[in-house]
Amino acid sequence: MAKSGESVAGSKRGATAGAESDILGPTGRPYRGFDTPRPLSSHGPARIIALCNQKGGVGKTTTTINLAASLAEYGRTVLAVDFDPQGALTAGLGIPTHDVPTVYDLLLDTKRDPHDAIIPSAVPGLDVLPANIDLSAAEVHLVNEVARETILARVLRKVAAEYDVILIDCQPSLGLLTVNALTASHGVIIPLECEYFALRGVALLIETIDKVRDRLNPDIRLDGVLATMYDPRTLHSREVLERVVEAFSDDVLETVIGRTVKFPDASVSGMPITTFAPEHAAAQAYLRLARELVARGAVA
Ligand SMILES: Nc1ncnc2c1ncn2[C@@H]1O[C@H](COP(=O)(O)OP(=O)(O)OP(=O)(O)O)[C@@H](O)[C@H]1O
Ligand SMILES: [Mg+2]
Repeated sequence: MAKSGESVAGSKRGATAGAESDILGPTGRPYRGFDTPRPLSSHGPARIIALCNQKGGVGKTTTTINLAASLAEYGRTVLAVDFDPQGALTAGLGIPTHDVPTVYDLLLDTKRDPHDAIIPSAVPGLDVLPANIDLSAAEVHLVNEVARETILARVLRKVAAEYDVILIDCQPSLGLLTVNALTASHGVIIPLECEYFALRGVALLIETIDKVRDRLNPDIRLDGVLATMYDPRTLHSREVLERVVEAFSDDVLETVIGRTVKFPDASVSGMPITTFAPEHAAAQAYLRLARELVARGAVA
C-alpha cells in the first residue's frame, strides 16, 4: 500500500526521472519523473516566488524550506525569505531568531544593506533572510509609508542579481505583508492541504492576486497549486484532490506531497527533510517538485 510522499504516484515503474509512463499520477495525468535540471553556468537574476495561502497550516513553510533546499541541491543559488512573524522558516532551518537583524529591519530602513540580515543556512547554496516576532509590528509601522506595498520589492531588488530563485514564505493572512510579497514576486505557488475546506477562501486569494496584478505588479502569474498532506489511503484526500484538479486543471502541479510525520520531525531538528531523511519519500517528493518547476520554466 502506498504510504506517503513520492509513493503516492503509483508503482516504481513510473518513478524513472524524465520517463513518462502509463501509470497515472494522483492528479490524473500520466506520471512523469522530470529530468534532473542541467547545471547553470552563471547565476541570477532571481525569479521571485511567493508561497501564499491565507489559510493556516497548509504547508507554506514546509514547502518553502524543502523546495529551497531541493533547488539548492540542483545547484541553484537560493534565498528563502521568512515573511511571517512566527519565524517558523527561520527556526526550521536552524537559524536563531533573536538578537539578529531581520527582514523587519530592512523594511523599516530601506537604505540598509540586506546583506546585514541574510545568513547562510547549513545547506550549501541556500541563504535565509530571517524574521521574528518584530515583523508583527510591520503592518502598523508601514501603513503610512509612501508606496507601502512595494517595500519588500525594493529590498529584494538589491540582492536579486545574486540568486537564481528567491522564495518568500508568507504569513497566513492577506494583509499588507502578503500584498508586499505578491508585489515583489514573479510567481505564486498556492499550497493546498488535501482536507475538506481546502478550497474555502482560495477564491479570495485569487482575487487578491488579480488585484495586485491589476494595480501593482502586472507580470505576476500563478506558478502552480501544490497539493500537500495527501493521503492516498483516505477517500476524502482523493476526493479533495479531484476537486482541486477540477478547479485549477493544469495549474495543479503534478507533484503531490504526501502526509508524513517526517516533516514535524525534520522541523524540530532544524533541517530540511532533504538533509534529515534524504531517502524518505517526502524528500524525494520535494526534489521532484524542484525538477517540475524547472521543467515548467518557473525556475531557471
Ligand atoms: N506533508 C506533510 N505531512 C505531515 N505534516 C506536515 C506536512 N507538511 C507540513 N506538515 C506539518 O503541518 C504543520 C503546518 O505546516 P506548515 O508550518 O508548513 O504550514 P504553514 O502553511 O506554513 O502554516 P502557517 O499558516 O501557520 O504559517 C507543521 O507542523 C508541519 O510540520
Ligand atoms: Mg508558515
